[in-house]
Amino acid sequence: MNPVSHAQLDWDDQGRPHSRVFDDVYFSDKSGLEETRYVFLEQNRLQERFAALPVGGRLVIGETGFGTGLNFLCAWQLFEEHAVAGARLHFVSVEKYPLSHADLQRALALWSELAPFAEQLLAQYIAIHQGFQRLILDNGRVTLTLLIGDALEQLPQLDAQIDAWFLDGFAPAKNPDMWTAELFAELARLAAPGSTISTFTSTGWVRRLINAAGFKMKRTPGIGHKWEILRGEFLGWPAEAPAPTAVKPWFARPAPLAGERRALVIGGGLAGCATAASLAARGWQVSLLERHAALAQEASGNPQGVLYLKLSAHGTALSQLILSGFGHTRRLLEHLQRGVDWDGCGVLQLAFNAKEAERQAQLASAFAPDLLHLLDKEQAQTRAGITLEQGGLFFPEGGWVHPPALCQWQAKHPLIEVLHHHDALELKQVDGQWQALHGDTVLACASVVVLAGAAEIKRFSFSADLPLKRIRGQITRLPQTAQSQVLATVVCAEGYVAPPRLGEHTLGASFDFKNDDLTPTVAEHVGNLEMLREISVDLLQRLGADNLAPEQLEGRAAFRCTSPDYLPIVGPLAAREAFDHTYAALSKDARHAPDAPCPWLNGVYINSGHGSRGLVTAPLCSELLAAWLADEPLPLPRSVSEACHPNRFALRALIRGNASKS
Ligand SMILES: Cc1cc2nc3c(=O)[nH]c(=O)nc-3n(C[C@H](O)[C@H](O)[C@H](O)COP(=O)(O)OP(=O)(O)OC[C@H]3O[C@@H](n4cnc5c(N)ncnc54)[C@H](O)[C@@H]3O)c2cc1C
Ligand SMILES: C[S@@+](CC[C@H](N)C(=O)[O-])C[C@H]1O[C@@H](n2cnc3c(N)ncnc32)[C@H](O)[C@@H]1O
Repeated sequence: MNPVSHAQLDWDDQGRPHSRVFDDVYFSDKSGLEETRYVFLEQNRLQERFAALPVGGRLVIGETGFGTGLNFLCAWQLFEEHAVAGARLHFVSVEKYPLSHADLQRALALWSELAPFAEQLLAQYIAIHQGFQRLILDNGRVTLTLLIGDALEQLPQLDAQIDAWFLDGFAPAKNPDMWTAELFAELARLAAPGSTISTFTSTGWVRRLINAAGFKMKRTPGIGHKWEILRGEFLGWPAEAPAPTAVKPWFARPAPLAGERRALVIGGGLAGCATAASLAARGWQVSLLERHAALAQEASGNPQGVLYLKLSAHGTALSQLILSGFGHTRRLLEHLQRGVDWDGCGVLQLAFNAKEAERQAQLASAFAPDLLHLLDKEQAQTRAGITLEQGGLFFPEGGWVHPPALCQWQAKHPLIEVLHHHDALELKQVDGQWQALHGDTVLACASVVVLAGAAEIKRFSFSADLPLKRIRGQITRLPQTAQSQVLATVVCAEGYVAPPRLGEHTLGASFDFKNDDLTPTVAEHVGNLEMLREISVDLLQRLGADNLAPEQLEGRAAFRCTSPDYLPIVGPLAAREAFDHTYAALSKDARHAPDAPCPWLNGVYINSGHGSRGLVTAPLCSELLAAWLADEPLPLPRSVSEACHPNRFALRALIRGNASKS
């Protein structure tokens, strides 16, 4: 894996960016705005298509080459002018060399009429790292999914139906890699029926290659110094080309639900609140059921959690999820109050033994320094403000979060009704509606139900066999002292300690696989203090922790909820017995590929298993869940969404010859 690098730019005397790598301009010398509008918006008939969108409708635009985002902002502006209030715009764009924030700001300053849109983009253009990065704009009316990396690596991982393509990857002669048959086959694979396409070039070989992929391209008069440009539409996958690999039926999308968009979300922690927010942003009416008197009373109720990335240098599904999830959560936090709800103070992971130091060195060579970099002991001490025994890996964009604040902010949407003291004991489907029941009382009903109650989802018969485990954890709250306030960043070794929030530091966290009782124990406070000693004896002393009687310490305990592969469980649920029956042949031959449709449990979805990193995974997984439900572009690579799919356990069990015993 190569770390992503920012675009290297030169600026001309009129302040326009020029790519050093490709020796080409980002937009036309004459009028970038006019050219964008003519080549991409007009040729794809976007004004008329935006105006025709119904309430709840959406248009998905795909682009090769995000660059300065000019095309995106122009499309957004047009959408804003012509689409009804309840319609949505989804823009997916691939970019190998993302502009730095400063360069993006400088480039977009050229277009004063786009300023209201550019400001929103710039406010969210944070933590743009490799892979899929989702940005939620205009309260969810506009979604931007950036695929950071080479187009030919990223697009094959995309699961989307694109209504209009913008081809804008520098001139074919300067950048032939963006104009290949392989890439056009990807555009065809992703094209929705009737998809349109346009580009500023009229180069003959480009036109022929796009046509060969299944589009019908036409030359049309150009603008400015462009004599001719190309526009076209998708006719269908060419009969002579081998069909693209079909998605396995157990990971296919369930048929979109017709009728009213109402959902029950059961569980008011990070997963439930984020699910409710993602659905409400898409116009769904949500009833959020929580058994306690307030949201975020269980795992999501700690005073401070760490926004931290445990990555792998090998690009595993988990690592990809973490990198995309981190960026997404980090951007959401911009809406919250810094210092009280969260702080982007950075996270320092100490190299506390040789194995950890080796792992950190590998990570430092696999990722860009603005995501993570090594600090020696001196640098680490300066950064943290305390004496340390070793250096480590620093994540400048990490920090701590008060999870209840994130939950409350997400549940605030007017389409979300929060129902406290609503303990759903049973779920029943009556006339196509899921009823949440407490004894004989119907608490709420809707055609869709999302189970977001961590390990408690096992109480429902149809999700009882999902392999979720509870792991008890306890944090210790330590009052800040005059000397401890200097702590300037979260510091982690086996445990973690955060700079103070409202006069207290959070120190965490224990792991106990056996204890089912949530009363805080003295032994775990002692264990947490031991972890603090390993982090920094200096900080321990500054906190006066040696003199604190452990039995006087305060804290709280809760259950994490984990799956055997440490990935969350997110997506539509199948009826287990019917699944085993439908795909029984797999138990005899794992390579057998039955094409029978998956027997989905209509309208039942899962968002659980967020383990020790719900802050990073729960918000993006909620976008994933909403994308499954609303039949939208997935915010993660196909392979990652499959790795998180609820059906993976039933599938593995079948292949091992262990049906119904995952
Ligand atoms: C000690 C500790 C430290 C942690 N530290 C970090 C950290 O530093 N960084 C990080 O990212 N993560 C951390 N985590 C993990 C993180 O807190 C979890 O991943 C996250 O909170 C999970 O959110 P959730 O919504 O899935 O579960 P929960 O927060 O447990 O929410 C589930 C909710 O569902 C409700 N519920 C369940 N069943 C029903 C029902 N049938 N009817 C009605 N309501 C129901 C429950 O009451 C609960 O409110 C920590 C966890 C613990 C325990
Ligand atoms: C002409 S610029 C795009 C202009 C942009 N659409 C705008 O509105 O500003 C072309 C972009 O394609 C990107 N690019 C070039 N080769 C690429 C590749 N192989 N994969 C992904 N992006 C690539 C460049 O980094 C550059 O940002």
